[in-house]
Amino acid sequence: MTNPVLGIDIGGSGIKGALVDLEVGDFVTDRVRIPTPKKSTPQKVAAVAARIVNHFADQLDGTPIGITVPAVVTHGRTRSAANIDKSWIDAEAQTIFQEVLERPVLLMNDADAAGVAEVKYGAAKGHPGLVLVTTLGTGIGSALINRGVLVPNSELGHVEIDGFDAESRASAGVKTKLDLSYAEWIPLLQRYYSHIEALFWPDLIVVGGGISKNANKFLPKLKLKTPIVPADLRNRAGIIGAAWLAADSLVHPDTVEE
Ligand code: BGC
Repeated sequence: MTNPVLGIDIGGSGIKGALVDLEVGDFVTDRVRIPTPKKSTPQKVAAVAARIVNHFADQLDGTPIGITVPAVVTHGRTRSAANIDKSWIDAEAQTIFQEVLERPVLLMNDADAAGVAEVKYGAAKGHPGLVLVTTLGTGIGSALINRGVLVPNSELGHVEIDGFDAESRASAGVKTKLDLSYAEWIPLLQRYYSHIEALFWPDLIVVGGGISKNANKFLPKLKLKTPIVPADLRNRAGIIGAAWLAADSLVHPDTVEE
């Protein structure tokens, strides 16, 4: 077995980490979960990530640690903060994590990580075409992966539909907040996926996020031209994809200068 790689997934309520065996695409160990600090600035979140890193320290080699955030990330800088503390906007977050963790880090968007995991090991494993992975949670995350290669930061939760930011109408968070039944939520999802399908024409759509465990209650009701399937790796996808992308960054470093 090659050395496992640590993936850490930063969410609104919990920061989770596990060692990943990239040969099989699964956890080597149990997952460690620590609640996200109240005012979740990059510094405070990095301090929590350090506790997770310390937990696994004796099993780590020099491979970067893959860390996901629910934000746009370009060249190590977080650029947006839709459902997280606004201090992430334009933070040099990857550098902050590297300084606090004293290790190399690759920071990435959470949905991108989950999407890569589904294409490498999950519901879209080995798919040769254009796969769109969406995560339905507090917001809507998206990952566009063509022939196994990620186009990062697609942010398709923020397309404007009928004058509204799409995730403010159709996310699972909205379903919970407004206490919508599946029958009430499905038309909102239908409007969302029809719009996205007409713009991108993917070969396959994968739907993740916590609510995907009830996929049988809504996916079969959607009328689309594209096959649409539930995610396979569920809440392990972010950590697994983070580890995969971190290891891949050694082979394909980010060489674009800003
Ligand atoms: C953010 C994305 C994120 C998604 C899921 C959206 O609000 O803009 O960056 O991937 O939520 O967390």
